[in-house]
Amino acid sequence: MNLVETYADCIVQNLDGKLGKQEVIGLIEKPKYKEQGELAFPCFALAKILKKSPAQIANELAEEFNDPLFEEVVADGPYLNGFLNKDYVSEITLKNIIEEGEKYGSHTIGEGKKIVLDVSSPNIAKPFSMGHLRSTVIGNSLSTIAEKCGFQTVKINHIGDWGTQFGKLIAAYKYWGEEQKVRRNPIKELLDLYVRFHEEAEYKPKLEDEARKWFKNLEEGNEEALQLWKWFRDESLKEFEKIYQLLDVEFDSFHGEAFYNDKMVQTIDLISNRGLLKYSEGAEVVELSEYDLPPSLIRKSDGATLYATRDLTAAIYRYNKFQFDKAIYVVGQEQSIHFQQLFLVLEKMGYEWAKNMQHVSFGFILKEGKKMSTRKGKVVLLEEVIKEAIDLAEENIKTKNPQLENKREVAKMVGVGAIIFHDLKNHRKNNVEFSLDDMLRFEGSTGPYVQYTHARAKSILKKAEANEVMKSPQGISDEYGWQVVKQLMGFPDVVERSHFQNDPSHIAKYLLELCRDFNKYYGQIKILQEDDQLESRLALVKSVTIVLNGGLKLLGIKAPARM
Ligand code: ARG
Repeated sequence: MNLVETYADCIVQNLDGKLGKQEVIGLIEKPKYKEQGELAFPCFALAKILKKSPAQIANELAEEFNDPLFEEVVADGPYLNGFLNKDYVSEITLKNIIEEGEKYGSHTIGEGKKIVLDVSSPNIAKPFSMGHLRSTVIGNSLSTIAEKCGFQTVKINHIGDWGTQFGKLIAAYKYWGEEQKVRRNPIKELLDLYVRFHEEAEYKPKLEDEARKWFKNLEEGNEEALQLWKWFRDESLKEFEKIYQLLDVEFDSFHGEAFYNDKMVQTIDLISNRGLLKYSEGAEVVELSEYDLPPSLIRKSDGATLYATRDLTAAIYRYNKFQFDKAIYVVGQEQSIHFQQLFLVLEKMGYEWAKNMQHVSFGFILKEGKKMSTRKGKVVLLEEVIKEAIDLAEENIKTKNPQLENKREVAKMVGVGAIIFHDLKNHRKNNVEFSLDDMLRFEGSTGPYVQYTHARAKSILKKAEANEVMKSPQGISDEYGWQVVKQLMGFPDVVERSHFQNDPSHIAKYLLELCRDFNKYYGQIKILQEDDQLESRLALVKSVTIVLNGGLKLLGIKAPARM
């Protein structure tokens, strides 16, 4: 059931083709005030075509209008206002949600199409940063939303595992490293080595030569260099895996930058064959001055390739492998020039599909207004932060619900859910202020609030022993219940909008509204009262659980049945 479409159909029927359905749909509005009904059609455009006054047209349309979904359709000046038949509409809405269950809100727009997402992509031997957290959380949600819209998705973790910094790291390890220390605490040890390298290189230039030598060794496949590199990579991935497990995120591929090493020559040949490769200040570049952009650096004078070369190669590889309909890169906004350059170089190389690539950028995570940094000792280890959130959630739960059995398990869902929700509730381009206390509150615009509302609804159903499917609810006509039904009806649209705008915050905000409407309903209406409306009210509650659970899932958050 699509109300706007039905409304448009009924209007179009009486227009003798003077205005098409799509145009009518484009004009239909949702009025601000209840007194104006649920849908309004302004008649100004028709007035010009029909050479009649808008008010007259509204009057005529109102007289002809006939559809059971609408209780009343009235002319209000130049507007045609439609009032839904609450009983009827809520009855079919609830039946539909309960029947569709988990599938409610799905779309078929993506059927047969593929989206490749570049997400997370931390750098080995470095801590997993707040930026990588945002990429992971936003990317995971966008992928789940795309799947809900029918797309097939491929999540690629483009691990940062290549580059001159590994020459420095190996050199530093050879000087000062201890195997046991690295094994015990890989990220911290490797980072310390890296920082020490930079400190000492300031007055010992020999170190830089040493680093260059090791990177060259690495690129040439020297056994020792490769072994160390691989070890650092493995240790780092083991650490990252702990974070992914806490966040409950999985990837389809871990091909990092190094994976493209042996494919790079071909890319450079392709660029060169197109006559695009130019020398500039000792390096080989692709000029982008016609776009007012700095040139894209392809190869340094010593033959070393760069971040951009690896991304070009990765893009071509991905297209050949997946023939994607769309490729998105979920990466911080500070890399926006890099992605503009990447897409333009691909276009210049003649790849039609470059226009189907998009940089989905996001802002910073701040602590007291300052960027949370992972450099120079000030490291905030993400794993610790997440564990702290879980501990705090556990304390909350202990006071709220001391009898709860699986407290730690629920605390994990709540603590992690709180972090994810806090990230996703604002538009991704906004900066996020990181405050565990704020995000863990059970009231307010938080993940725990949504989870708590869901658990409350679940417990009502449990109390009513309403587990048998409610297939024949009647309508809901009280004001509070109707408000909830109207929200529930909006879910499919919100999913679609989030997909097209690459913006999970629509879903997060929608869930908060639904929770507020439902909690008002819960405060005003005796849901479990034994009367002939009981089944309808339970169907409403059940529908709320379906949509809250489904919506949270799209954000990557679990909904415990009790908390
Ligand atoms: N490893 C990079 C960084 O931490 C992010 C990589 C993003 N993905 C890409 N295909 N460039 O800055």
